[in-house]
Amino acid sequence: MAVVWVKLLRTAAIVAVLGLLYLLAIEKHAERDSLREAPVELTAACEEKLQAYALSAGEVYRSPYLHKTTGRVSDLSGYSEADVRAIQRGCNIVDDTQGQLAKQGARERWNATRFSRSTHTSCDHCHQNLGDKQDSAGNRIVGSNGLGASWVMADMYDRFTGLLLPYEMRQMQCFINSSNGFKPNAADDLLRDITAYSRFLSAALDLKMGHRYPEQGMEEIPASATLRRGDDYVRGAHLYREKCAACHGVQGFGTVVDGRVLYPALAGPESFSLDSRMHFGRVNTVMAGFICRNMPLGQEGSLENQDCRDIAYYISTLPRPAGDRQGPLVAAWQQLMMGVMPPLTRYAESLGRSGTPHAIP
Ligand code: HEC
Ligand code: HEC
Repeated sequence: MAVVWVKLLRTAAIVAVLGLLYLLAIEKHAERDSLREAPVELTAACEEKLQAYALSAGEVYRSPYLHKTTGRVSDLSGYSEADVRAIQRGCNIVDDTQGQLAKQGARERWNATRFSRSTHTSCDHCHQNLGDKQDSAGNRIVGSNGLGASWVMADMYDRFTGLLLPYEMRQMQCFINSSNGFKPNAADDLLRDITAYSRFLSAALDLKMGHRYPEQGMEEIPASATLRRGDDYVRGAHLYREKCAACHGVQGFGTVVDGRVLYPALAGPESFSLDSRMHFGRVNTVMAGFICRNMPLGQEGSLENQDCRDIAYYISTLPRPAGDRQGPLVAAWQQLMMGVMPPLTRYAESLGRSGTPHAIP
């Protein structure tokens, strides 16, 4: 008799647990549905961008950019209300991945932070001007890592992983490594909305599927484009102190004021990982390209190629999280370095202060 009761109780316990999980799933489902239906409150930058590209629901879409740049008008099939909301959410995520500007916090960004260990990352930091960087005349900029130009590449050989990857998978790489986080599901609303936004950019900019445009990817600075005297750590460190430390911090840990990230970390636990495409195991061509194009903020273009290589080399030696391919030993080592190096550097600096400063070569 007792055996029967034990069996019954066990079954009841299992049913109860499954029932609770089911209720939880329904609850989450309802939350996602309500988010999908809710009107989207745009960040200021997205408001401006999407308005400039005349995003609205309707039968046809006409790109004002195309008209302005070529005088042509082209009628593309338009967007439903749901499409518009997806594009708007996608833009918000790119601008504010951490949900710092959202009224209801990270939830409004599909809780993108669950895929990011870094509390600093926003896609827009590296895919600048919301993945659509242009000069003052409205020309798209070579090697500016544009998201529209990336979307039209669809399946693309990815030199970082050595695989042919669709757009969603290339996004994932950035979640895993540039935000030192985790891989979102390929069907996650988060990726879908960023994809919807990127696709909209390609329509607004009149980019054709399968074409490679110059703004796709980051412009690189190979050694051949420098003075060919090698990457100089000491010179890089000096230049970093002089040109970058005021914003990104002496240790490269970034600047956070009142919980808002003003300047993102370039090193340390909040930074991109060793495998980030910005860093990629110390391949200094990519980060150097970014720096020369986009930094120091407000004085873009003021650095020489050699300067950017030297600074990128210096930054690449600072401690940061291990990437997803490097295994537990490297991860433990990097963790240790992130703890040990900052106080050591501070100590070394306090010694240096009394003597004459090094001359900048
Ligand atoms: C720390 C800088 C950084 C951050 C933050 C970042 N990315 Fe990237 N991303 C890169 C770099 C660098 C590349 C590689 C560019 C190249 O191939 O030359 C890249 C590549 C990509 C690509 C593939 C581009 C292509 O044409 O192959 C996609 C898609 C992408 N990122 C999406 C995102 C999304 C979405 C986010 C926000 C979650 C994000 N990135 C955050 C630096 C960054
Ligand atoms: C006036 C402040 C300021 C200065 C000076 C500055 N930066 Fe930045 N940096 C920023 C901001 C803000 C961002 C985020 C992107 C944006 O808003 O343009 C950023 C982003 C970056 C990124 C993208 C990485 C990430 O983790 O998101 C790199 C790399 C970078 N800066 C390097 C440098 C280097 C190297 C220098 C010195 C040559 C420099 N910065 C000088 C403000 C600054």
